[in-house]
Order: sequence, then C-alpha cells, then structure tokens
Amino acid sequence: MNFVNEDIVTLNRISITNLLQEIGPDEVSAEIVAGLEADQKSISSKFFYNGDGSLLFEEITRLEEYYPTRTEKGILKQIAPKLMKQYKGYEIIELGPGDHSKISILLNAAAEMNPAFLRYLPLDISQPALRSSAESLVTAFPNLLVEGYAVDFFSQFGQIRREHPALICFFGSTIGNFEWTDSIELLRNISLQMKKGDVLLLGMDLVKPEALLHAAYNDAQGITDAFNKNILNTVNTLIHADFQTEHFDHLAFFNQEKSRMEMHLVANRDLSVHSPFFNEDLHLKEGEAIHTENSHKYNARHIQEIAEATGLKLNHTHTDEKGWFAVTEFQKL
Ligand code: TRP
Repeated sequence: MNFVNEDIVTLNRISITNLLQEIGPDEVSAEIVAGLEADQKSISSKFFYNGDGSLLFEEITRLEEYYPTRTEKGILKQIAPKLMKQYKGYEIIELGPGDHSKISILLNAAAEMNPAFLRYLPLDISQPALRSSAESLVTAFPNLLVEGYAVDFFSQFGQIRREHPALICFFGSTIGNFEWTDSIELLRNISLQMKKGDVLLLGMDLVKPEALLHAAYNDAQGITDAFNKNILNTVNTLIHADFQTEHFDHLAFFNQEKSRMEMHLVANRDLSVHSPFFNEDLHLKEGEAIHTENSHKYNARHIQEIAEATGLKLNHTHTDEKGWFAVTEFQKL
C-alpha cells in the first residue's frame, strides 16, 4: 500500500490564511437596506458573485461581445515571456484571482525559466475559491508555493506576509469597478506598501467607440441582462424580500462625463417590495433605477493621473493591437 498520495504532497505547498473579520448577517442586511432606502437606490456589486451569479459572469466572459477577458489574456500571452524574465525571482501577489486562468499565463512563462521555487500569493474574499485554485495550481506547477489570503484587500493589504521583490497583479479591470476616488485610494495604499523595485501590473479597460462598449454590456443572448437581474434573487435571499425580476429592465449605458459604463435595473411599472428589514415597504415608480455597477474606461490621461497620485513610475502600457485594453506596468522607484 502506498500512503504517499498526491493530495498530501500538494497540500504541503499550500497555505491559506484567513484575515477576514466575519461579517454578520446583520451587517449584510443593514448594508443592503441602506442602499435601497437611499435617494439614488443602489445594490453593491459584490452581491453579483453568488452561486448562479458567478456562473453567469463566467458565461459573460466567453461572449463574443464581451471583449475584456479575452483581450487581456491575449496581452498577457504576448508580454509574459519577457516580463517573467525581467522580473525573475519576484514573488507574485494577485488581487482577486478569479479562475486563475490569467495568472497561469504568467506562471507558465516563469516555469520555463526553471526557478527553484516560485511564491504565489492570491488575495481573495472567498476561502473555498482560494483553496480549489491553489490545488489546481500546485498540481500544474511543481515548483509553485501558494500562500493564499482571505482578505479585504482594500483595508488589509498591509497585513500580507510579503517578501521582496514582488510583482503585484490586479487584472480584469476590477479597479474600474470602484469609484475613481476610491480606486486612487486603493492604489495609493498598495503603492505605500511597495518596496523599491516592486512592480504593479494593472489590467485596465480602455475608452473605445461607444457601440463596442454598449454591445459588451448588452449582449444579444441576454446573459448580461440575466446577470444584472440575478442580483435581485441574491437580495431576496439575504433580506427575505420579494423583488420580482420581471418587473425590472436591464440598463447599461456609457456615462461620458465619468468615463464609465453604468449598470442599472429600471422598474418597468410602479411597484412595491416587502422585506422584514425595511422600515416600510419600498416603493419604486415606473422608470426608477437601482444602480448596480460601474465599470470605468480609461485613457492615457487617467493612466498618467494614477502614476502621479501613487508616485509610481509608469514603465510601460501594454495594449492589444486594437487598443481596447491595457496592462499597465508601474514600478516603485
Ligand atoms: N467587472 C465586470 C465589468 O465591469 C462586471 C460586469 C460585466 C457587469 N458585465 C456586467 C456588471 C453587467 C454588471 C452588469 O466589466
């Protein structure tokens, strides 16, 4: 009998640390109710990615019209060999790794360089997601050590046990889902924690003709429509409410002034929603919108402003041939 099975071996190269303070159900419901009772009603986009929502988002990333995921991966494939050579020996930190397909592109390139070992630190809010990704990755990469952290990287980035130098990856244009001022605050925070030589690789979706943006968030099959409406199902579960998805229309448009796509759910009739957590039933007038997401689109000036606000040096803006997406490379001097 052979007791040395794969699992035990691979688990030796994985550690997952939980730094999240448990958020109680009271806090979650209070946050949802506050958003819905405000003058401009809103639901935090973090409630998109539950169960069905995550699956629907994966479907979005495969849509013909949804260019960001595919374009960013194409750029990473282009730049990975040179990048991983240039930053050989760096440990890799990733904020919000998702399905680990993007980091695998970099890890593949690094593996070609045959390092003795490579330290990879994914930071995510979901422990199960961290664990299952870590298991696939250590199986695929024999020299990889995965040190995952369940954290809120907005407030807890400083608590990660890091070595230097580090390559910090933040892909998916997730930075674009924050309000501009919050995104600057997050990046300044990260910059403050960086040591001389550390690099930040930031995935940023770029401004492009409005028709392309519109199509990416209003796909013909209606997956995005279903994804946006599904947030109401999550809210129904969390605050025992009775939102009916068919009473809402998906709305996604480009807000020129703020350079962002905005996603809303618009009531298609006057309606009331009940929840034991509301002070009184929630009333929406026909045409009234609940704001669910922003997705900022950047230009060269925005990228420059980020460099100025963080004090990081913009080494390079890597783009695809159409100029639709950028992986910007910032370095701490
Ligand atoms: N982070 C994704 C983005 O900004 C999320 C997303 C894609 C999304 N399509 C959506 C959010 C539609 C709400 C509605 O591109």
